[in-house]
Formats: sequence, structure tokens, C-alpha cells
Amino acid sequence: MGNVIKKLVIGLVVGGAFVGITRTLEFPTVFQMMFFAYAMLGSVVFMMLDAPSLKPMSGGKSVIVLVAFYIVLCVVYIAGASMWPQYDPEDEKGKIDKILKPKRAATEQGKADELIARAKALDEQVKALSVRLKALGGDQAMQDQSAGGPGAPSAAGSVVATGDVAKLGEEQWQLQECYNCHKLKGEGGKKRGPELDNIGTYLTAEEIGQKILDPKSWMADGFEKEYEKGKMPDKYKDLMEQKDVQVLAAWLSSFKNTSINTPKPIKKK
Ligand code: HEC
Repeated sequence: MGNVIKKLVIGLVVGGAFVGITRTLEFPTVFQMMFFAYAMLGSVVFMMLDAPSLKPMSGGKSVIVLVAFYIVLCVVYIAGASMWPQYDPEDEKGKIDKILKPKRAATEQGKADELIARAKALDEQVKALSVRLKALGGDQAMQDQSAGGPGAPSAAGSVVATGDVAKLGEEQWQLQECYNCHKLKGEGGKKRGPELDNIGTYLTAEEIGQKILDPKSWMADGFEKEYEKGKMPDKYKDLMEQKDVQVLAAWLSSFKNTSINTPKPIKKK
């Protein structure tokens, strides 16, 4: 009896240690319980090793004992397994759907937004072209066009276009998630990249476009480490249409807030 208690105590201590270790390793509770159960099982095995051996059996009696042993084993396993948390595939599917639904909605919305933005950019290009034509003295061309119907471009047209650039540029800023690394208008940026409120003082729209399409083309002064590590993603040339880059760069070049300490960009290539 003393022997049994001793083994039990050892089992509890070892089991406790297992639980402690698995808990610090942040195992799920089920696994902590499982390790504890293993320690206890070990104690039982050692207790049985010390138990007096059974008398040899033969014939019908041995068959009955063997079958009884299997029945006990089966009951223990099945009962044990049914106590385990059960996974219903439908349940899991429901959970996954719940997670994915807002994402799907977001991408669908994103696609729609992008299409609208593209349509607007095209419209704006047409307007800009007309304005340029007019500036070139192509009055005849203008008249031909206005003969085509209402909505003929006018001086007001270019004003609207500038407004569109701001809107489309900001849309791209949001869509491409530049705000993840850059602070602008006091929003966004997790200290990974420079604040951009004064970028227009240093770079033209075209140069900002270069930086977006090839992040290695310019380096923000004081951000040598980030530049070397390629912190700014080199993916926008694949993700963005040329006109998306143009409106975003044009919009950013309008930021000339000298009270913000935007680091000076250094030409790299
Ligand atoms: C994952 C972080 C990250 C994202 C996303 C990111 N950038 Fe950057 N960007 C940086 C870092 C870091 C620097 C500074 C190092 C360098 O110049 O490469 C930088 C530098 C710049 C600079 C030069 C600033 C200066 O003062 O010289 C511009 C302009 C810029 N990024 C624009 C953008 C635009 C526009 C987007 C979105 C299309 C964008 N970045 C997305 C990390 C990022």
C-alpha cells in the first residue's frame, strides 16, 4: 500500500511538472490535461509492475478473461474519445464563412471602387486632353467636339479635373494602403516610414511616381537602414495602372506643409 501511495505521489509531481511546462509553452488546455493523464498512466503502469502476478490460466477461463479485458479496453477508449471535444465539419465551415464574408465583401467593394476610379481617371484624361487642345489653339477642334453634344469642356472643366486628381489620388492612397507605413495629414503610419506632408516641397509628381514604381530610385534621408532592407514594397508597378500612379503622385506632390519634418529624398538612380 505504501508503495502504491509513493508511485501515486511521483505521478502527481511529474504530472504537475508537465502541466507547468506545457502551460508556459502555451499549449492548449486539452494538451495540458493529456500530458497530466500520461504521467498518471505511467504511475499506474509502475504500480502494476509491482503488483503480485496472476496465477496462470488456461482453457475457457483464459478466453473469458481475455474477452473481458478487451471489452474493458474498448469501453475506456470509446468513452474517453467521446469526452474529447468533437469537431463538426458544418460548424467549422460556418466559422470560416464568418471570417471570410467581410473579406469577400471588402474585395468586391474594392473591385467596384477601382472600376469607378478607373472610369473617372479616363474621364479626367479626356478633359485634360481637351484643355490641352484648346491651349494649343485648336479652337476648331473644340468646336467640332462641342458640336457633338453637351458637356463640352470649358475652363471650369479643368477645375473639376484638379478636384478629381485630389480625390482619385487619395483613393489610391487608401487602396494601396500607403498609410500603413506613412503618416499623412496626421493619420496612419506605424513609424515604419517617413511622414509625407511636406514631400511636395522636395519632389515633383513625376519623381514621386518614380519612387512608387521603383522604391530604390529615391531614399529618404535618415532612413538608410529601411532603404537597404527594402522596407517600402516593390510591388506597386504590378498592382497599379500607370494613371493610378499618376494621380497618386500628383496628389502627394501637392503636400507642401513645411511644418512637418518630411526627410529629404536623395536620388539613388
Ligand atoms: C511597408 C511599408 C511601406 C509602404 C506600404 C509604403 N512605403 Fe513609402 N517608404 C517606406 C519607407 C521605410 C521609406 C523610407 C526609406 C526609403 O526611402 O526607401 C519610404 C519612403 C517613401 C517616400 C520618400 C519619402 C522621403 O521623404 O524621401 C515616398 C514618396 C513614399 N515612400 C511613398 C509611398 C507611397 C505613395 C506608398 C503607397 C503606394 C508607399 N510609400 C508605401 C515604407 C513604405
